[in-house]
Amino acid sequence: MADKKVTLTLNGEAPVELDVLQGTLGQDVVDVRSLGSKGLFTFDPGFTSTASCESKITYIDGDEGILLHRGYPIDQLATHSNYLEVCYILLNGETPTSEQFEEFRTTVTRHTMIHEQITRLLQGFRRDSHPMAVMCGVTGALAAFYHDSLDVNIERHREIAAFRLLSKMPTVAAMCYKYSIGQPFVYPRNDLSYAGNFLHMMFATPCEEYKINPVLERAMDRILILHADHEQNASTSTVRTAGSSGANPFACIAAGIASLWGPAHGGANEACLRMLEEINHKEHIPEFVKRAKDKNDSFRLMGFGHRVYKNYDPRATVMRDTCHEVLNELGMKDDLLEVAMELEHIALNDPYFIERKLYPNVDFYSGIILKAMGIPSSMFTVIFAMARTVGWIAHWKEMHDEGMKIARPRQLYTGYEQREFTSKLSK
Ligand code: ACO
Repeated sequence: MADKKVTLTLNGEAPVELDVLQGTLGQDVVDVRSLGSKGLFTFDPGFTSTASCESKITYIDGDEGILLHRGYPIDQLATHSNYLEVCYILLNGETPTSEQFEEFRTTVTRHTMIHEQITRLLQGFRRDSHPMAVMCGVTGALAAFYHDSLDVNIERHREIAAFRLLSKMPTVAAMCYKYSIGQPFVYPRNDLSYAGNFLHMMFATPCEEYKINPVLERAMDRILILHADHEQNASTSTVRTAGSSGANPFACIAAGIASLWGPAHGGANEACLRMLEEINHKEHIPEFVKRAKDKNDSFRLMGFGHRVYKNYDPRATVMRDTCHEVLNELGMKDDLLEVAMELEHIALNDPYFIERKLYPNVDFYSGIILKAMGIPSSMFTVIFAMARTVGWIAHWKEMHDEGMKIARPRQLYTGYEQREFTSKLSK
């Protein structure tokens, strides 16, 4: 029994009492599940006031700029942990002992190769395809290659599929890149870290070994940590919705990738870099800021604003420091970074952005770091998808472990009432 209740009264009818549920942190939640049987639905397009599920994985306080994975603050994880340890925490709920971590790491790094026939699947794509289109297609197609782990009702199958996705996603991502530039695919190296192996598969060639720069390896690891999960965002909700029908995990993750691609979500890092390139020089910033504020212009400052964070995005703070570390290491004085810093300064002091609580988000800096590493902007969202795969899997597993109902929202119908059909086609 919930302590708090909300009472709903409609046109003098008998009041409906609704339980108010309380989580460990965050807002109270009105349980509206009984309303349907009383002939009422709630209306919340864009889910601005709807909790779609119960979850123990990630907590965000957007007003305070807090992001916790299984209770651990993101800045502590980004500074003192590594991506695979964060993956373990997200999937299992607790920090691993050394033995548990070693077993987890070994399992992930021993399954990095993908079925050789997938190279032929890739060859069916045009070379100039966007790598996100290729990644989405190849990930969905993995179900055709690993059909021994598709029974979502069997816990062991879910476990195997989860490891396969986590292990093979960097290989798929790097193959998408190599294919787009016409270079041979580079096989994974299991003696390297998760981030180091990805850089190796991206930049090594058969004629030249790629020497991994530890600063860049650490920066890539941080980018992966900072994108690992973000509770019920559009792509994670998509994965949960797809999975709620019992769809196989590869199909669900492909659905997540498709959702992530949009410029209002994961596609923002690519769009942000394009915008910085378009601005090109500090002196052009006012013109772009003016456009962003103009209601009749669809232009928005990419990398600014967030549905949940109405304070600084805590991931952006870490990303900003990493950005400086990488540029220092590479001895680069990036013009785009100067434009970015100035834009940040101007926007943070402009009443339009202050009133609407629009702060730089994680994508504002990640693009500059990736560009400095030599990664083309078309790969930015692919790297985001690779990092987010663990979050998607953690939510998909949690949904299955805890029992689920198929996601089936209702609607406010505003179309025609019933009418007679008369064809306008000439007989
Ligand atoms: N530039 C200019 N104005 C903006 C921006 C922006 N980037 N973002 C929001 N606004 C304005 C809106 O015009 C609106 O103004 P109004 O109240 O005068 O009409 C107000 O701020 C609120 O905007 P909404 O669209 O209602 O906010 P919402 O929470 O729905 O959108 C979103 C959040 C989609 C992230 C939005 O801020 C945006 O489009 N940002 C740019 C894209 C981006 O960087 N996306 C990455 C998100 S982080 C991630 O997915 C990892």
